[in-house]
Amino acid sequence: MFAKQVRKLIVAIDGPAGAGKSTVAKRLAKELGYTYMDTGAMYRAFAWRVMEQGMDLSDERELRRVLQQTNIELVEHFGRPGVLLNGVDVTDRIRTPELSQLASRVSTSKIVRERMVELQRAIGSQGGVVAEGRDIGTVVFPDAEVKIYLDASSQERARRRFEEFRGQAGQGTMEETVSEMEERDRRDKERDIAPLRKAEDALVIDSTDSAVDGVVERIMQEIKKKMLANQ
Ligand code: DC
Repeated sequence: MFAKQVRKLIVAIDGPAGAGKSTVAKRLAKELGYTYMDTGAMYRAFAWRVMEQGMDLSDERELRRVLQQTNIELVEHFGRPGVLLNGVDVTDRIRTPELSQLASRVSTSKIVRERMVELQRAIGSQGGVVAEGRDIGTVVFPDAEVKIYLDASSQERARRRFEEFRGQAGQGTMEETVSEMEERDRRDKERDIAPLRKAEDALVIDSTDSAVDGVVERIMQEIKKKMLANQ
């Protein structure tokens, strides 16, 4: 007798910056043997293109033209997730406070979002993905089997971001990190299209005082429950 194949799920993780989404999503993807999908990296990569070209974000025609000529791929090099922009590895360059802000601004554009969502759905079309972002459970994969809204206090999130960028050129003070993060959160939550919000059926997890292991374990319980229900 053959063991029944368990259908591969979609795990959607949304939440504000610094809530721990990347760390947790990468761990889950590894444990499950699923694809890790960092949708923020896709917006960051496009923001990089915008910056390189010195584009005016309010020029829709230009934005559309550049979008058509932009290929964004999520890849894995020696077990480390990365992003290619027209074949060029931009993985490390997009992790700066400046690109965080620009990605947040670029992501308010309807045509940019439409293109990214199209790419994201293509990646997830066969299931077996752990996707993290702002609109995964609400817009990209509204039928995802597991939806998590990961949050943490704004002080703790800013502290984590500050540590992440420590020593990097262009890093400001802790106060600047807090205010940049607040500005970005506000924009991501208040934009007209696909704002960051908790999906109705998402499980909320606050990671302020939790270690990564505990959060991963809690989400794995949810995933196992869904896997059993789906058999
Ligand atoms: O997750 P991140 O910090 O790398 O995301 C950078 C920006 O990209 C974020 O401030 C808003 C935008 N973004 C988005 O609008 N939708 C997503 N699914 C992911 C990111």
